[in-house]
Amino acid sequence: MKALVKIKEVAAYLRSCGIDDADKEAEILLTQGIGIDRVTLYRGDPALSEDQIKRLEKILQRRAKREPLQYILGYAEFYGMNIKVGPGVLIPRPETELIVEEAIKAVTSNKLQVTSKDLKQFSENSLLKILDLCTGSGCLALAIAKHLPVAAVYGTDLSEIAVEYAMENAKINRIKNVTFLKGHLFEPVKDMRFDMIVSNPPYIKRPDIQNLQPEIREWEPVEALDGGEDGLKFYKEILQHAPEYLNNNGFIIIESGQGQANDVIKIAEGSKLKNISIIKDYAGIERILIWRN
Ligand SMILES: C[S@@+](CC[C@H](N)C(=O)[O-])C[C@H]1O[C@@H](n2cnc3c(N)ncnc32)[C@H](O)[C@@H]1O
Repeated sequence: MKALVKIKEVAAYLRSCGIDDADKEAEILLTQGIGIDRVTLYRGDPALSEDQIKRLEKILQRRAKREPLQYILGYAEFYGMNIKVGPGVLIPRPETELIVEEAIKAVTSNKLQVTSKDLKQFSENSLLKILDLCTGSGCLALAIAKHLPVAAVYGTDLSEIAVEYAMENAKINRIKNVTFLKGHLFEPVKDMRFDMIVSNPPYIKRPDIQNLQPEIREWEPVEALDGGEDGLKFYKEILQHAPEYLNNNGFIIIESGQGQANDVIKIAEGSKLKNISIIKDYAGIERILIWRN
């Protein structure tokens, strides 16, 4: 069968399974899924081999069960890197890339230079120490480490599976200035101080989890989603303790869920963190919150 006929068939099938953006996904399944180059697909319209058709059928069986596309492909793209993902680890989301941008800006605009005394005191070999709480696949820690080679980046997560993925992602992307540790929030780094803390913690209200789309609700790890009854459990703990782990003038950059920014800002009012900035995401949602210590 010719590829361009098959792609239409695949799109129609995906649509019948209730999948949004079925045309785009059909293209991804033929290109990234079974390895047909995009130009070859549209210019040459090659005939599919039996092996390619079999592989495509297997992929479609998985996708029909609403397994996320990225789990099927085995990776997600994040800040120009391929991040290995699979059951047990959250798929990185595009809005989280904004944390990376803000972290890089905070360092390259020299806003952290004023802390050089503190840096000398606390940093041994690296100029900057950065902590990524709830690191999951390690996407944030890795992107920051890659773009800030002067930094020693630490990522912590309670999930053993997540930490294994994060370590593998460091190897795959050949990033060496990063260390992943298993444990509850700050516990694995309790004797350290940082110049920057970043985090995309679980923030879905527990009662809302059942209303999420099946790809998330049935496949992504619940511990990566569940922010407690009000969705704010992790912000309360992180913001209460962040000042103990931040050097003077250090930054904390956190992602918040839709409609949560004001509540999270109120939580921080109870701590000594100051100078809030709010960054909106591509959809205009107040998404990234930044304070200084
Ligand atoms: C929303 S995911 C974020 C993953 C990654 N940072 C990202 O942006 O894709 C939250 C992560 O928090 C982890 N987590 C849940 N409870 C935790 C805890 N008590 N301490 C540390 N990490 C925790 C989950 O395992 C999950 O990997």
